[in-house]
Amino acid sequence: MNPVFPSILSTNFFNLQTKLGEFEKSRVDFIHLDIMDGHFVDNISFGPSLARSIKEKFPFRLDAHLMVSNPARMIPHFIASGADWLSFHVEIDADCSELIGIIKKSGRCAGLVLNPDTTLERVRPFLKITDYILLMSVFPGFGGQKFIPATLERVRQLKKEILSQKSPCLLQVDGGITLENISLLREAGADLFVIGTHLYNADNIEEKIGQLLNRLQWSQP
Ligand code: DX5
Ligand code: ZN
Repeated sequence: MNPVFPSILSTNFFNLQTKLGEFEKSRVDFIHLDIMDGHFVDNISFGPSLARSIKEKFPFRLDAHLMVSNPARMIPHFIASGADWLSFHVEIDADCSELIGIIKKSGRCAGLVLNPDTTLERVRPFLKITDYILLMSVFPGFGGQKFIPATLERVRQLKKEILSQKSPCLLQVDGGITLENISLLREAGADLFVIGTHLYNADNIEEKIGQLLNRLQWSQP
């Protein structure tokens, strides 16, 4: 699995098909969808219909990052629209085990998301039942923000906990990731990298993804 997950939040939607074509040429496996409800975060993005449209036209798998206050209501819609991975925020105080169960029963992968100021303790009880943890390296709501350096130590600690529990849980990081910090994140223990603005600022997306994968010493099987 290609560890680079492009986020389409910061793309110009009139160019979306072209950008998705460039990601396809770059042999990306997953597209990261930032779903915002204007309540859990101060922004509104897009819904299940965009997920369905991408699935109808491109071979990507979809990773839906639900920044919504009521994931229990939104999860079935994104499952129906073809999302393959679904993550929701632990800060919303929902029954995480129940929601993880609903996602996994539908044959999808479930993820739990942590904001930069949320203690890692909040996900410790779920590391054996969730498929991945998404550690935010910016506060959710907008692309183009600066990477929070304290994330590196949180990645190290969380990875240590995942390994001590002998869990296959993957560690995904999201926000402000660039060529400069991606190998530090990998060394700290991160497995998957959500990247937005850094890709759109590139003259050549395929070349930029190649450089990022080189930093990760990862090559197409
Ligand atoms: C922010 C989103 C991120 C964002 C990443 O709330 O969850 O996925 O789009 O974009 P960059 O790489 O620009 O920080
Ligand atoms: Zn995201």
